[in-house]
This record gives sequence, C-alpha cells and structure tokens, in this order.
Amino acid sequence: MKSSSILVTSLAGVSATLTPSYNTSSNSPVVVPYEYTYILPNGFVGNENYTFANGTTTNDPRINALLKSATQAPIVAYDAEFSNIFGSNPAIKLVQDRSAQDDMFAHEAGVWVPERNEVWFSNSPSQLAVFPGTVYVLSLDTGHVGPLNSSSKVRNPNGGYYFEGKVYFTSIPGPANDTYPGGIISVDVHTLETQTIVNSYFGLHFNGPDDIVWVYNPANRSEKYMFFTDLDFTKAAYPNGPSPMLPSSVYRWDPQNEILRPVISRNDLSPNGIRVTPDMKTLYVPDSSSVYESFPTGVGVNSWLGPFIYAYKLDEDMLPSSRTMFGQVRLGIADGIHVDDSGRVWTGESEGVVCRNSLGKVIGVLNGEYFLANTSAEATPIANFALAGDTIVVLAGTRLWTVQAEEVLVSSNSSKPD
Ligand SMILES: *[C@@H]1O[C@H](CO)[C@@H](O)[C@H](O)[C@H]1NC(C)=O
Ligand SMILES: *[C@@H]1O[C@H](CO)[C@@H](O)[C@H](O)[C@H]1NC(C)=O
Ligand SMILES: *[C@@H]1O[C@H](CO)[C@@H](O)[C@H](O)[C@H]1NC(C)=O
Ligand SMILES: *[C@@H]1O[C@H](CO)[C@@H](O)[C@H](O)[C@H]1NC(C)=O
Ligand SMILES: *[C@@H]1O[C@H](CO)[C@@H](O)[C@H](O)[C@H]1NC(C)=O
Ligand SMILES: *[C@@H]1O[C@H](CO)[C@@H](O)[C@H](O)[C@H]1NC(C)=O
Ligand SMILES: *[C@@H]1O[C@H](CO)[C@@H](O)[C@H](O)[C@H]1NC(C)=O
Ligand SMILES: *[C@@H]1O[C@H](CO)[C@@H](O)[C@H](O)[C@H]1NC(C)=O
Repeated sequence: MKSSSILVTSLAGVSATLTPSYNTSSNSPVVVPYEYTYILPNGFVGNENYTFANGTTTNDPRINALLKSATQAPIVAYDAEFSNIFGSNPAIKLVQDRSAQDDMFAHEAGVWVPERNEVWFSNSPSQLAVFPGTVYVLSLDTGHVGPLNSSSKVRNPNGGYYFEGKVYFTSIPGPANDTYPGGIISVDVHTLETQTIVNSYFGLHFNGPDDIVWVYNPANRSEKYMFFTDLDFTKAAYPNGPSPMLPSSVYRWDPQNEILRPVISRNDLSPNGIRVTPDMKTLYVPDSSSVYESFPTGVGVNSWLGPFIYAYKLDEDMLPSSRTMFGQVRLGIADGIHVDDSGRVWTGESEGVVCRNSLGKVIGVLNGEYFLANTSAEATPIANFALAGDTIVVLAGTRLWTVQAEEVLVSSNSSKPD
C-alpha cells in the first residue's frame, strides 16, 4: 500500500471529529490532523532547525498549504481538545510592545497572583548587563504594567511560583565583581515584604536558581516541600560570569525539618523548569543539557543528553524516584513549564508554547512564529508564560500578549495556582 493511500484512509478516519481547517481572518486555531505528526506521504522533507509547520514539505499541495497556514496562525491544534480550549475566534491582545527598545522585559516567571488578579513576570537574564533584573506586574483587570514595588527590590529575578499568599522567586547570583549570592526570595502578596529563604549551600553560591515549585505531601497536607532547579547559565547572563561552584541539581527545601539538600543530580539532567501534577504525585522536570552543558548550542540530535521532559514519581518520603520520559522537544528545549488543573503540561519551546495532555500527546501550540514575528528577539524562543484563570499571558520577550481561553485552565482556589 502506498503511503498516500494510508494517509487518505487515516484522514477519512479522523474527519468526523477533526477536519483540517484554517481561517486567516480570525484567530481561529489552525487544525492540523495529529496523523501528520507521525505519518506523511513518502518523499517528505523535514528540517530540524525550523518548526514542524515551517520546516516540513511534502509532495501533497493540500498538506503544504495547511502547514503554511499553520506557520502564520497564532494557535495550531493537533487535537480537538486544544481547539476547544480557545473556540472559534479567541481574543488575542498585544498588551505592551518594547521591540523598538529591544527590551526583553517579558521573559521569565509568569506567576498568577489570584488575590490581586495580576501576573508577575521578569525580564531576560541574558540582558542583565543592559536592563537591570526587574519583576513586572500586569494587572489583568486594568492592563496596567509596572515594576513590582516590593519592600526591597528582588535582584536578578528568574522563575517564580505562587504558594499560600507568597510568590517565591529564584534569583541568580551577581557577576564576578559582585558578591550578591542569588537564591530564593519570597514576596508576600498582601504586604509586598520580601524575605530570603535560602541563599547558600555551605557557603557556596548557587549557579543559577531557575525555577521553583511547592508541593504538599498528599498523605498529609500540612507537610510542604519547596523544590527548585539550579543550573549553570551565568555565562549566558554576564559576559564575565562567575564560574560555577556546585554541580547543577534539583534541590528540596523541607521547612518542617529545615533541611536543604539536592534530590536530583546532574547525572540525571541539567534541570530547567519544574512543576507538579495536581495530585502532587509526579514532578515534571525538563532537561536543558543540550543547551547549557554543551556550548555552543546545537539541535537536540547533537547532544548526548537531550531536550527531554522527564516525569519523576514522588515517593512516600516526597523524594523524586523512578524517572520516566514524558516528552521529547522537537525544536530547542522545554524552558518554562506549567500544569493546568486538567493535568495538561504546557512548556515554552522554540515551536512556541507547546501543550501536551497527561498522556504525553502534543495537542497543540501557541505558535512562537506569530507571537515573536518581526521582533529582533525573534531568534530567542518564548521561555515562559502564565496560566491565569481563563487567560494565558504569553511572555514573548519584547512583547507581552494575552490569549483568551474559553475554559478556566487554573482556578483561583486550585491547590497549585500556577
Ligand atoms: C473567518 O472568521 C471570520 C471572523 O470570525 C468570520 O467572519 C468568517 O466568516 C470566517 N470565515 C470562514 C470561511 O469560516
Ligand atoms: C541545521 O543546522 C545545522 C547547524 O547549522 C546544519 O548542520 C544542518 O545541516 C541544518 N539542517 C538542515 C536540514 O538544513
Ligand atoms: C521558516 O523557514 C525559512 C526557510 O524555509 C527560514 O528562512 C525562516 O527563518 C523560518 N522561520 C522561522 C521563524 O524559523
Ligand atoms: C510602582 O511605582 C511606580 C512609581 O510610583 C509606578 O510607576 C508603578 O506603576 C508602580 N507599579 C505598579 C505595579 O503599580
Ligand atoms: C561590575 O562591573 C560592571 C562592568 O564593568 C560595572 O558596571 C559594575 O558597576 C561593577 N559592579 C560592582 C559591584 O563593582
Ligand atoms: C502531618 O505533618 C505535620 C507537619 O510535619 C506533623 O506535625 C503531623 O504530625 C503530621 N500528621 C500525621 C497524621 O502524620
Ligand atoms: C509582521 O510583518 C508582516 C509583514 O510586514 C506583517 O504582515 C505582519 O502583520 C507582522 N506581524 C506582526 C505580529 O506584527
Ligand atoms: C473551585 O472553584 C470552582 C469554580 O470556581 C469550583 O467548580 C470548584 O469546585 C472549586 N474547588 C474547590 C476545591 O473548592
């Protein structure tokens, strides 16, 4: 059987639930049948340096036209579950654009603060030498954007997480001529008082605290643990960054017993983002070894370690155990990661904001080519974003966007507002 007839057969099979479609005059998701991700007519040509839609050509003009429309659309769906999140013409708003200044003010964290209906985010650590590290606040009620006026400034903010009335930021150490150690800083969302939670491992600076999550013990919800990732990217932050003093690791802070210890070693991965499933039983940790442990940057195929998203079961002692692979990133790495209340896993990748359901199926993407188009930051992928109720805040570097969903992705009373 020729592959083209397989394709026709399988296309007929899905057409009842999912018809390839696109409408360039609306924000309507472009629907690309999931089959195209694993079977194409023989003779197709792929390019690992470009997105799936942009880098794939076949000898079927209908497929090429559909993929071309997908390169221009804000939302690409591979599964009806994803198009249903957005409906036929979701509102997409450019809230602020600083591309003229090349100020990548919207790059990291992406924390919804439900009490204030605000999203707190931070600027790109790669521009620290030009634009000082800043936490910005977007009010989802008024659209106002301004720097966070906390009791003291959170220096070099990176990732963040909301937990029980505080936002916890990872903060990266200062450059070689500056003793600022970085660490984990909390900000009370009512008083805006800051507090340093950890800043040292036996007198050594962390390398570059990156992302953070709080987890309850599902067997006893008064037991809480803070996990954070630490990786060596200060070289990307400063031209003469300090050399790392510690191996890259995932650390766990146990406030009950006041114990700080690494719980996942660099033998496993160079961790980046970190999040937990709604049932608090599984940690997701993307590996960014392909970028941060083997300069210069190469595509995944060139690196022994890889652009994978791992799932670790949390055992009864709330320690990560039994690692399985959850996802393989097609382009770039998975950077920021968020889990919605349905257990879908959203990651910032070079394709854009990629969404996998809890089975690990890629169901769609907020297309990076659309949100980054025509900016000088175009070469820098979307690193992070926020899930805020029924709104997705896309941190597209020099541009700040909101995308309206038709369902609440993370509710304000969720155990893990994200
Ligand atoms: C495309 O979307 C616009 C705006 O929602 C709508 O008016 C138009 O009818 C749609 N066209 C098609 C072919 O669906
Ligand atoms: C992708 O980029 C790499 C590095 O520049 C290059 O070696 C490779 O040939 C490119 N792949 C294609 C299909 O062009
Ligand atoms: C899309 O592919 C073309 C080559 O066909 C390339 O020049 C362009 O940079 C790609 N766009 C993006 C955003 O990667
Ligand atoms: C913080 O204070 C400055 C100066 O008053 C103001 O411009 C900015 O909007 C404030 N930030 C927020 C989030 O309101
Ligand atoms: C460190 O060096 C930079 C660049 O030379 C300079 O701008 C900065 O003020 C210095 N910082 C300190 C704390 O000396
Ligand atoms: C639950 O955890 C708290 C905090 O560690 C502890 O004080 C309490 O005894 C635990 N409860 C049970 C039933 O183990
Ligand atoms: C990017 O530029 C193209 C060509 O000028 C234009 O059609 C498109 O609307 C621009 N996109 C954005 C998001 O500004
Ligand atoms: C959270 O709120 C939603 C609707 O706002 C409601 O359906 C749900 O039951 C609430 N969950 C809890 C745990 O209170």
